[in-house]
Amino acid sequence: MSILDKHQVLEKNASLLLVASLLVVTVGGIVEIVPLFYLENTIEKVEGMRPYSPLELAGRNIYIREGCYVCHSQMIRPFRDEVERYGHYSLAAESMYDHPFQWGSKRTGPDLARVGDRYSNEWHVQHLNEPRDVVPESVMPSYSFLKTTPLKVANVTANLETSKVVGVPYTDDMIANADADLAAQADPNADTSGLLARYPKAKVGDFDGDPAQLTEMDALVAYLQMLGTLVDFTTYDDATGYR
Ligand code: HEC
Repeated sequence: MSILDKHQVLEKNASLLLVASLLVVTVGGIVEIVPLFYLENTIEKVEGMRPYSPLELAGRNIYIREGCYVCHSQMIRPFRDEVERYGHYSLAAESMYDHPFQWGSKRTGPDLARVGDRYSNEWHVQHLNEPRDVVPESVMPSYSFLKTTPLKVANVTANLETSKVVGVPYTDDMIANADADLAAQADPNADTSGLLARYPKAKVGDFDGDPAQLTEMDALVAYLQMLGTLVDFTTYDDATGYR
Protein backbone atom coordinates (compact mmCIF):
# COMPACT_ATOMS: atom_id res chain seq x y z
CA MET A 1 0.00 0.00 0.00
CA SER A 2 1.57 3.29 -1.08
CA ILE A 3 1.51 6.34 1.14
CA LEU A 4 -1.16 7.84 -1.10
CA ASP A 5 -3.39 4.79 -0.67
CA LYS A 6 -2.88 4.95 3.07
CA HIS A 7 -3.89 8.57 3.07
CA GLN A 8 -7.02 7.70 1.10
CA VAL A 9 -8.13 5.53 4.02
CA LEU A 10 -8.07 8.68 6.15
CA GLU A 11 -9.74 10.83 3.54
CA LYS A 12 -12.59 8.39 3.02
CA ASN A 13 -13.34 7.93 6.71
CA ALA A 14 -14.60 11.17 8.23
CA SER A 15 -14.41 10.03 11.87
CA LEU A 16 -10.90 8.72 11.46
CA LEU A 17 -9.88 11.95 9.72
CA LEU A 18 -11.33 13.96 12.60
CA VAL A 19 -9.48 11.90 15.21
CA ALA A 20 -6.22 12.11 13.24
CA SER A 21 -6.60 15.89 12.77
CA LEU A 22 -7.20 16.37 16.49
CA LEU A 23 -4.10 14.32 17.21
CA VAL A 24 -1.97 16.42 14.88
CA VAL A 25 -3.33 19.69 16.29
CA THR A 26 -2.75 18.44 19.85
CA VAL A 27 0.87 17.56 19.22
CA GLY A 28 1.43 20.87 17.40
CA GLY A 29 -0.28 22.75 20.20
CA ILE A 30 1.81 21.10 22.90
CA VAL A 31 5.02 21.86 21.02
CA GLU A 32 4.02 25.53 20.84
CA ILE A 33 2.52 25.97 24.30
CA VAL A 34 4.74 23.93 26.64
CA PRO A 35 7.83 26.16 26.24
CA LEU A 36 5.72 29.09 27.47
CA PHE A 37 5.35 27.38 30.86
CA TYR A 38 9.11 27.66 31.21
CA LEU A 39 9.24 31.27 30.08
CA GLU A 40 11.14 32.32 33.18
CA ASN A 41 14.17 30.39 32.01
CA THR A 42 14.14 32.12 28.65
CA ILE A 43 14.26 35.68 30.01
CA GLU A 44 17.78 36.60 30.98
CA LYS A 45 17.98 38.28 34.39
CA VAL A 46 19.17 41.85 34.09
CA GLU A 47 20.42 44.06 36.90
CA GLY A 48 18.21 47.03 37.71
CA MET A 49 14.81 45.64 36.78
CA ARG A 50 12.17 46.04 39.46
CA PRO A 51 8.36 46.12 39.56
CA TYR A 52 6.63 49.45 38.87
CA SER A 53 6.14 51.75 41.84
CA PRO A 54 2.47 52.33 42.71
CA LEU A 55 2.46 55.79 41.07
CA GLU A 56 4.18 54.46 37.92
CA LEU A 57 1.70 51.59 37.79
CA ALA A 58 -1.21 54.06 38.08
CA GLY A 59 0.34 56.05 35.23
CA ARG A 60 0.73 52.93 33.17
CA ASN A 61 -2.97 52.17 33.67
CA ILE A 62 -3.79 55.63 32.30
CA TYR A 63 -1.44 55.00 29.34
CA ILE A 64 -3.42 51.84 28.58
CA ARG A 65 -6.81 53.45 29.20
CA GLU A 66 -6.03 56.33 26.83
CA GLY A 67 -4.77 54.00 24.12
CA CYS A 68 -1.34 55.63 23.84
CA TYR A 69 -0.13 52.25 22.49
CA VAL A 70 -2.27 52.78 19.40
CA CYS A 71 0.28 55.36 18.19
CA HIS A 72 3.37 54.52 20.25
CA SER A 73 5.44 51.35 20.47
CA GLN A 74 7.70 50.45 23.39
CA MET A 75 10.06 48.13 21.62
CA ILE A 76 13.37 49.26 20.16
CA ARG A 77 14.45 46.69 17.59
CA PRO A 78 18.12 45.76 17.27
CA PHE A 79 18.63 47.68 14.04
CA ARG A 80 21.10 50.48 13.57
CA ASP A 81 18.54 53.15 12.62
CA GLU A 82 16.44 52.37 15.69
CA VAL A 83 19.35 52.15 18.11
CA GLU A 84 20.76 55.46 16.87
CA ARG A 85 17.43 57.18 17.26
CA TYR A 86 16.05 55.65 20.44
CA GLY A 87 19.00 54.12 22.32
CA HIS A 88 19.94 50.56 23.26
CA TYR A 89 17.54 47.98 21.81
CA SER A 90 14.90 46.69 24.20
CA LEU A 91 15.75 43.66 26.33
CA ALA A 92 13.16 40.97 27.07
CA ALA A 93 13.73 41.58 30.77
CA GLU A 94 12.68 45.20 30.41
CA SER A 95 9.07 44.20 29.83
CA MET A 96 9.03 41.17 32.12
CA TYR A 97 6.76 42.92 34.65
CA ASP A 98 4.37 44.26 31.99
CA HIS A 99 0.84 42.86 32.14
CA PRO A 100 -0.12 43.41 29.41
CA PHE A 101 3.08 44.35 27.59
CA GLN A 102 3.10 47.62 25.64
CA TRP A 103 5.32 46.68 22.72
CA GLY A 104 2.73 47.92 20.23
CA SER A 105 2.89 47.54 16.50
CA LYS A 106 2.13 51.01 15.22
CA ARG A 107 4.36 54.06 15.29
CA THR A 108 2.36 57.14 14.42
CA GLY A 109 4.53 58.78 17.06
CA PRO A 110 8.04 57.81 18.18
CA ASP A 111 8.90 54.71 20.19
CA LEU A 112 8.65 55.46 23.93
CA ALA A 113 10.66 52.55 25.37
CA ARG A 114 13.44 54.95 26.49
CA VAL A 115 11.63 58.28 26.70
CA GLY A 116 12.38 58.50 30.45
CA ASP A 117 14.76 61.35 31.35
CA ARG A 118 14.74 62.64 27.75
CA TYR A 119 12.52 65.63 28.56
CA SER A 120 11.70 67.57 31.71
CA ASN A 121 8.47 67.04 33.62
CA GLU A 122 7.38 70.50 32.48
CA TRP A 123 7.89 69.50 28.84
CA HIS A 124 5.69 66.40 29.27
CA VAL A 125 2.95 68.35 31.02
CA GLN A 126 2.98 71.01 28.30
CA HIS A 127 3.10 68.39 25.56
CA LEU A 128 0.28 66.24 26.95
CA ASN A 129 -1.75 69.36 27.62
CA GLU A 130 -1.44 70.56 24.01
CA PRO A 131 1.17 68.77 21.85
CA ARG A 132 1.22 71.60 19.28
CA ASP A 133 2.49 74.06 21.91
CA VAL A 134 5.86 72.30 21.82
CA VAL A 135 5.78 70.40 18.50
CA PRO A 136 3.82 72.59 16.06
CA GLU A 137 3.34 69.88 13.41
CA SER A 138 2.19 67.21 15.92
CA VAL A 139 -0.91 65.10 15.21
CA MET A 140 -1.05 63.78 18.77
CA PRO A 141 -4.35 64.48 20.55
CA SER A 142 -4.52 66.82 23.54
CA TYR A 143 -4.86 65.17 26.95
CA SER A 144 -5.40 68.39 28.92
CA PHE A 145 -8.08 66.80 31.14
CA LEU A 146 -5.38 64.72 32.88
CA LYS A 147 -4.17 67.87 34.67
CA THR A 148 -7.54 68.46 36.27
CA THR A 149 -8.58 64.85 36.90
CA PRO A 150 -7.72 63.75 40.46
CA LEU A 151 -5.91 60.42 40.51
CA LYS A 152 -8.18 57.69 41.86
CA VAL A 153 -6.02 55.84 44.35
CA ALA A 154 -8.62 53.62 46.03
CA ASN A 155 -7.50 50.44 44.26
CA VAL A 156 -3.71 50.74 44.45
CA THR A 157 -3.19 47.91 46.91
CA ALA A 158 -5.51 45.65 44.92
CA ASN A 159 -3.59 46.55 41.78
CA LEU A 160 -0.31 45.41 43.32
CA GLU A 161 -1.89 42.26 44.70
CA THR A 162 -3.37 41.37 41.33
CA SER A 163 -0.03 41.94 39.62
CA LYS A 164 1.51 39.60 42.17
CA VAL A 165 -0.97 36.88 41.21
CA VAL A 166 0.31 36.99 37.62
CA GLY A 167 3.93 36.77 38.73
CA VAL A 168 5.19 40.29 39.47
CA PRO A 169 7.35 39.95 42.61
CA TYR A 170 5.65 42.56 44.80
CA THR A 171 6.65 41.89 48.40
CA ASP A 172 4.32 42.11 51.41
CA ASP A 173 6.24 45.25 52.37
CA MET A 174 5.49 46.83 48.98
CA ILE A 175 1.81 45.93 49.20
CA ALA A 176 1.48 47.18 52.79
CA ASN A 177 3.03 50.53 51.83
CA ALA A 178 1.34 50.95 48.45
CA ASP A 179 -0.82 53.96 49.35
CA ALA A 180 1.98 55.72 51.24
CA ASP A 181 4.48 55.11 48.44
CA LEU A 182 2.08 56.44 45.85
CA ALA A 183 1.56 59.67 47.76
CA ALA A 184 5.25 60.07 48.64
CA GLN A 185 6.47 59.80 45.04
CA ALA A 186 4.47 62.83 43.94
CA ASP A 187 5.33 64.92 47.01
CA PRO A 188 8.75 66.64 46.93
CA ASN A 189 8.59 67.20 50.71
CA ALA A 190 7.82 63.62 51.69
CA ASP A 191 10.26 61.20 53.31
CA THR A 192 11.03 58.94 50.37
CA SER A 193 13.67 56.69 51.92
CA GLY A 194 11.23 53.75 52.16
CA LEU A 195 9.96 54.34 48.63
CA LEU A 196 13.48 54.45 47.19
CA ALA A 197 14.54 51.34 49.10
CA ARG A 198 11.56 49.45 47.69
CA TYR A 199 11.77 50.99 44.20
CA PRO A 200 15.36 52.03 43.42
CA LYS A 201 15.72 54.86 40.89
CA ALA A 202 12.09 55.95 41.33
CA LYS A 203 11.76 59.58 40.23
CA VAL A 204 10.26 61.75 42.94
CA GLY A 205 8.63 65.12 42.43
CA ASP A 206 5.56 67.17 41.83
CA PHE A 207 5.27 65.94 38.27
CA ASP A 208 2.32 68.03 37.09
CA GLY A 209 3.55 71.30 38.63
CA ASP A 210 0.47 71.60 40.81
CA PRO A 211 1.35 70.72 44.43
CA ALA A 212 -2.26 71.23 45.51
CA GLN A 213 -3.56 67.97 44.08
CA LEU A 214 -2.50 64.53 42.92
CA THR A 215 -3.73 64.22 39.35
CA GLU A 216 -3.69 61.65 36.57
CA MET A 217 -1.05 63.87 34.96
CA ASP A 218 1.28 63.23 37.94
CA ALA A 219 0.96 59.48 37.47
CA LEU A 220 1.33 59.46 33.68
CA VAL A 221 4.43 61.68 33.73
CA ALA A 222 5.98 59.57 36.53
CA TYR A 223 5.45 56.54 34.30
CA LEU A 224 6.89 58.21 31.18
CA GLN A 225 9.93 59.44 33.10
CA MET A 226 10.90 55.94 34.26
CA LEU A 227 10.54 54.23 30.87
CA GLY A 228 13.80 52.58 29.87
CA THR A 229 15.79 54.06 32.77
CA LEU A 230 16.08 51.03 35.07
CA VAL A 231 18.85 49.14 33.29
CA ASP A 232 22.17 50.99 33.36
CA PHE A 233 23.55 50.59 29.84
CA THR A 234 26.90 52.09 30.78
CA THR A 235 27.56 48.88 32.72
CA TYR A 236 25.38 46.45 30.77
CA ASP A 237 27.26 43.98 28.57
CA ASP A 238 25.34 42.48 25.61
CA ALA A 239 27.18 39.17 25.84
CA THR A 240 26.82 38.37 29.50
CA GLY A 241 24.19 40.76 30.77
CA TYR A 242 26.75 42.14 33.24
CA ARG A 243 30.15 43.72 33.07
C1 HEC B 1 -2.97 59.74 17.22
C2 HEC B 1 -1.68 59.21 17.61
C3 HEC B 1 -1.13 59.49 18.99
C4 HEC B 1 -1.68 59.15 20.20
C5 HEC B 1 -3.01 58.46 20.47
C6 HEC B 1 -0.71 59.52 21.20
N1 HEC B 1 0.37 60.06 20.61
FE1 HEC B 1 2.09 60.67 21.54
N2 HEC B 1 2.84 61.30 19.78
C7 HEC B 1 2.23 61.18 18.55
C8 HEC B 1 3.06 61.83 17.55
C9 HEC B 1 2.74 61.93 16.07
C10 HEC B 1 4.20 62.33 18.20
C11 HEC B 1 5.38 63.12 17.59
C12 HEC B 1 5.07 64.61 17.63
C13 HEC B 1 5.04 65.15 19.02
O1 HEC B 1 6.09 65.10 19.71
O2 HEC B 1 3.98 65.57 19.48
C14 HEC B 1 4.04 61.97 19.60
C15 HEC B 1 4.98 62.24 20.60
C16 HEC B 1 4.91 61.82 21.90
C17 HEC B 1 5.95 61.96 22.88
C18 HEC B 1 7.33 62.55 22.65
C19 HEC B 1 8.25 61.43 22.22
C20 HEC B 1 9.62 61.85 21.80
O3 HEC B 1 10.54 61.03 21.91
O4 HEC B 1 9.77 62.99 21.34
C21 HEC B 1 5.47 61.44 24.05
C22 HEC B 1 6.20 61.36 25.38
C23 HEC B 1 4.12 60.98 23.79
N3 HEC B 1 3.82 61.20 22.48
C24 HEC B 1 3.32 60.40 24.75
C25 HEC B 1 2.00 60.00 24.50
C26 HEC B 1 1.12 59.51 25.53
C27 HEC B 1 1.49 59.34 26.99
C28 HEC B 1 -0.07 59.24 24.92
C29 HEC B 1 -1.35 58.76 25.58
C30 HEC B 1 -1.85 59.60 26.65
C31 HEC B 1 0.08 59.52 23.51
N4 HEC B 1 1.35 59.99 23.29
C32 HEC B 1 -0.90 59.33 22.56
C33 HEC B 1 1.04 60.55 18.31
C34 HEC B 1 0.16 60.07 19.27
